[in-house]
Order: sequence, then structure tokens, then C-alpha cells
Amino acid sequence: TVTSSLETFRPAMHYTARDTWLNDPNGLVFHEGTYHLYYQNNPFGNVHSNMSWGHATSTDLVNWEEQPVAIPCDDTEEIFSGSIVVDHGNTSGFGTSGTAPLVAIYTSAFKPASAHPGIQAQSLAWSTDGGYSWTKYAGNPVLTRDSPEFRDPKVFRYDGPAGSYWVMAAVEAHDYAVLLYRSDNLKTWEYLSTFGPANGTGGIWECPDLFELPLDGDAGNTRWILTVNMNPGGPNGGSAGQYFVGQFDGVTFRSETTVTEGMQDDGRVADYQWLDWGRDYYAAVSFSNVPDGRRLMIGWMNNWQYANHIPTSPWRSPMSLVRDVTLTSVNGQPRLVQQPAAEYTANSAPVPAQQLQLDGTVAVDGGTAVKQIQVTFTPGTAEEYGVAVRGGEDGAATRIGIRPVSGELLVDRTNSGDTGFHDAFPSVSTAPIQPGPDGTYSLQIFVDHCSVEIFAQDGLVTLTELIFPDPSATSLALYSTGGTAAASLQLTPLA
Ligand code: FRU
Repeated sequence: TVTSSLETFRPAMHYTARDTWLNDPNGLVFHEGTYHLYYQNNPFGNVHSNMSWGHATSTDLVNWEEQPVAIPCDDTEEIFSGSIVVDHGNTSGFGTSGTAPLVAIYTSAFKPASAHPGIQAQSLAWSTDGGYSWTKYAGNPVLTRDSPEFRDPKVFRYDGPAGSYWVMAAVEAHDYAVLLYRSDNLKTWEYLSTFGPANGTGGIWECPDLFELPLDGDAGNTRWILTVNMNPGGPNGGSAGQYFVGQFDGVTFRSETTVTEGMQDDGRVADYQWLDWGRDYYAAVSFSNVPDGRRLMIGWMNNWQYANHIPTSPWRSPMSLVRDVTLTSVNGQPRLVQQPAAEYTANSAPVPAQQLQLDGTVAVDGGTAVKQIQVTFTPGTAEEYGVAVRGGEDGAATRIGIRPVSGELLVDRTNSGDTGFHDAFPSVSTAPIQPGPDGTYSLQIFVDHCSVEIFAQDGLVTLTELIFPDPSATSLALYSTGGTAAASLQLTPLA
């Protein structure tokens, strides 16, 4: 049994709104030394309603300060997901006296009382004070297909062989399609191409992103990554994100990882990878305008299956940690590598590593409740080995295990604390995992008051899940079942 108080489960390392609901990260942008995190927000409650853009700022990606609501809903529209660009050339004309405006491109979810009842279309708002106050463009919407499901515009500056212009990726959610458009001024948009439907069609497509990354660190050899969130149809149920790697020529995105006949316009089906295998990493998108070639992403740490019911109050839903995303070749295929931003551990010292021989369960000094765990397992005869985190006196814990024979990583949250708020919540999630070249398995795990985020196989496999342990449940154990294993454990207390 979990003793709930208002602050029970409030994470230490993850952003939450003070006393309201949030979902998708929106308008992620770095501008003049500040990271801006806007997000789908209900300013008046803690369930999904009254969609507006909430706002938080940070200078270090770790400590966030909630700001007043940035773009509120009104009688005519809710403000659905979208993105922000720094309009360096003032192409939109919204800037004043040589300043580069911030321009938000968001989905107007039009209400019955509007001129476009039931329609979702793309609209603009701009800020000339660094993202704190916003004005809606009088010419909204700037792009409509008279569709009820056309949303989540992600805009970026394309500078390539085909020219230099703005590109928008947005979904036609029920067609499993990402539509690309171009513009010179953010106000008028010209259709370019459509990607999809492709493999991941177990649910509607939402919140796309399209960005370029060097492959294996070679700036002369880049690929484009199309991420598309999908709900439901995730690998362990409900909401999840998928990605495709390929080429974008300024007009068309073509996935290069292809399997059989069929769906791309060149006749091949685009293969895809899961962005995260867990049940609580959704609507992930990347920041724009980040220096040093960093590609930073945040996801919403929740799942539409039970999102409105998670047992937190008065706030509801955390964001994930910020992830650094790079691209690496694995068996000749380009794959995303995700790592928690180094900022999270920059000011924390690890405690000395412990070497453990496992033949059953070993309790270790778990230190603080909120921590980074780095653990490497050397297989012995055990069929499963792993860690049990946020353990309580009543035996509750979240089990994070490796099953080497089936090649699985698993997270068992069936006995992780408060699990009874929704039938779909208690679960064992799995992801395929392979050992490193030396035969060992390394996991980096971030444990907070209501989540575990696992970065396995050097960040090729990630698994993010909510848990609701009693605040007093801070113990840590390592275990093996049905035999032996060895473990090297390093803890870094975070809060
Ligand atoms: C994804 C989503 C988006 C939409 C927003 C509404 O979680 O459904 O497609 O813009 O949430 O809040």
C-alpha cells in the first residue's frame, strides 16, 4: 500500500507541471542560452482537456522553471501539438527591427463555434520576447486540408542541394501518413510528398519528426531519420514511437531500411525500429536550434491506455529525461543510439563499484531513491539475472531482468507499488537485447520517484516505464534465477 500525499511520486529529475495535466512536448527550442519546453497542457485541471501550450525553461536541461501558459485555448480552438523555429532571416516578417522572431507552428483543433468546426489545421503564433509572450497570426490557419485528423506540424530549415526553405512534417493520423510541405515564409505552404502507410500501422500516426544525423560520426555521410509516434500498437501495448532511417532530398523521404514488396512509391516496404520499447515514452520530438550538432529529444512519459488515471495529484504526467540521439551502424544498418543527457550526472559522484557473485538474491546498499545504476552482468548458469529497484518492506519492487537464452530485457512492474488504478497498467514488458562483443550485458538505469528508464546495449535499446512505489521503498537487490551470474555495479546518487 502506498501512502499518497500531494507530492507522492513527484519526480526529482523529470519535468512535471506544478498542479496541472500535461502531455506531448511541443515547440522544443534552444534560444539565447535557454532551453524552452512547451507542452500540451490543461491549465484548469489534471486530465486531458482545454489543450493549451504550457511552458517551462531551463539553462541546463535538468532544472526547469514553470512559466505562465504560453498559448491558451479559447472559444474557437484548442492548441494541439506543434513546433517552434527561430526565424533567423525574419522570413515571416513577424520580427521587429532586425530581431529574429520565434515562430510556433501548432495545430488548431477547431471547436464547433469556430469558422472551421471539427477541422484540424496548422496555425502560427509568434514571439519577439524570447518565447514568453505569444501573438496568434491573424491569417490562421495557414495550412488546411479540411481534415479532422491533420496535425502535429514539425518544422525545420532545410539547407541542401534542393535549396534553402522551411519544411513541415505533419500527420494525416488515420491514413498512417506523414505529409511534407515547404514554405519560404512559414505562411504559405506547398505540398511536397507523403510517406506511408508503412509497417507500423497498429495505431494512428501522431507527432512526426524529421532530422539529419551523421552516420558513425562522419559529417560527410549523413542519413535522415523520420520518427513517427503511434497509438496504440506499441511493442508492449498502447502508445509508442517508431523510426525510419533513409534519405531526404528536399522533397521526398525514402526509408533505406526496407524489407519486402509494397508500400513506398518505389515499391518497397519501409522497415522500422522502435524508438523505445517501454510503455511510457510517447510523442517524442527533438529540439530545434541546439548548437554543437546535438540532437536532443524528450518524450511524454505516459501511455494513452491509462494516462488520465495515473495516481498523481494535483499534477499528472512527467516528461522523460532529455536524450542525446546519434546514429550508428549495426550489422550494416543505421540505428539510433540514445543516451540520457550528460547534464544529469555532471554534478554527481558515483559511489565505488561493487563486484558481486550472484546465486539467488543479494541485497545491496541502494543509496538514495533517485539514482543512476550502471550494471554489467557476466552470464553464468542462470536463466535470468537483473536488479530489483525501489524495493519496499512489503516485498514490492520493480524487476529489471535479462534472459540471455531468449535474448530479452524485461521490466516487471506487476508488484511495483500502486498498480491498481487501471487494468492495463500492471505488466511485464520485454525488448530484444544482445550481449556486447565480450558476452556481457550492460544496463544504464535511471530510477526516479515514478519511473525507470533503461538504456541497454549502449543505447540501441531503451525501455521507459512509469512505476508508483511507496516513497519509503528505496532498497536495491541484484538477483539471479536458476543458477549463477556475476555483476559489476556502480551507483550514482542523484537526489
Ligand atoms: C498525441 C496527441 C497529438 C495531439 C495532442 C493533443 O499524444 O494526440 O496528436 O496533437 O496529443 O493533446
